[in-house]
Amino acid sequence: MPKTRSTKKNKRIMKVLVTDGMSAEGIQVLKSAGHEVVEESINQNELSEKIKGYDAIIVRSATKVTKEVIDASDLRAIGRAGVGTDNIDKDAAKAKGIPVLNTPAASSISVAELAIGHMFATSRFLHVGKKGMSDNGWPKKQYSKGIELTGKTLGIVGLGNIGVELAKRAKGLGMRVIASDPAKNEDPYADIVTEDELFKIADFISFHVPAKKDGSAYISENEIDQMKDGVVLINCARGGCIDERALLLALNSGKVRAAGIDVFENEPITDNQSKLVDHPNVSVSPHIGGSTLEAQTRVGIEIADKINQTLNL
Ligand SMILES: NC(=O)c1ccc[n+]([C@@H]2O[C@H](COP(=O)([O-])OP(=O)(O)OC[C@H]3O[C@@H](n4cnc5c(N)ncnc54)[C@H](O)[C@@H]3O)[C@@H](O)[C@H]2O)c1
Repeated sequence: MPKTRSTKKNKRIMKVLVTDGMSAEGIQVLKSAGHEVVEESINQNELSEKIKGYDAIIVRSATKVTKEVIDASDLRAIGRAGVGTDNIDKDAAKAKGIPVLNTPAASSISVAELAIGHMFATSRFLHVGKKGMSDNGWPKKQYSKGIELTGKTLGIVGLGNIGVELAKRAKGLGMRVIASDPAKNEDPYADIVTEDELFKIADFISFHVPAKKDGSAYISENEIDQMKDGVVLINCARGGCIDERALLLALNSGKVRAAGIDVFENEPITDNQSKLVDHPNVSVSPHIGGSTLEAQTRVGIEIADKINQTLNL
């Protein structure tokens, strides 16, 4: 079990366990506050034993901070370097009065930029251009009927942290930006409309909503039917937000001109999803929306700051 040391002024040095890695900048923020930081990947079965003596733990998504772990600990803070806290038993933490901290907005810019990346990719065939040139040499004719984003209407479903960052950037590209969000009546970067209006008007629709509690899709055949012919759909939110089977049908019929997808119903993808992933009008990425160097740096610094504040209370 790790021993606790004291400073000369008898102020106890806090011990922070980091199990799933964290940016060097974040580690430095913890150390600068005088905390002892242990970076160790711990087998889940051993965590309840090894957690004793630590004041805080910082995890990403790999380590599960279960009731058993929490009950065995003297933790004063639990940090999730990232957004989702599904891997932390929040009820058990609450019962012991331990705050669960996360960094919900640290990767918003990265996700917004990826959504725009998929919009550009599908508009100018960037996702297939390299393979086309490798296979055919010079498929100029094939890829000469792209479209501009300027002047098009972008509909953002869910105008939270990421949606707003996307709206700002889309405005800068000369797009008209509309958004639907039950929590918003107005916004400086987007005209707020109903979801029905958005479906009717938008040339591009990008989803930035939380997953539904029952796991069901926001968008299926009925919703797609209401959209403009030739609409482009972008999903960098959560897998299953757009029903993949309905999307494939709509891509094949041409109702949906193209799609950009970062998140999938099954991750990693299975053979059943290959028709969608390999579709020529679909630009894909393997759930990397928040995975940039800048976002990881911000995540580390932000969670370290929050842990410091809590431990110093
Ligand atoms: N691709 C990635 O790597 C990645 C990274 C970070 C976050 N995400 C996901 O992106 C999504 C958005 O994240 P965020 O940080 O912007 O969340 P957020 O909580 O800041 O914003 C979500 C917004 O959606 C709105 N909303 C809820 N239900 C709605 C509905 N039915 N219609 C329209 N709006 C609705 C909420 O009012 C809120 O404003 C989440 O699903 C999150 O998990 C993905």
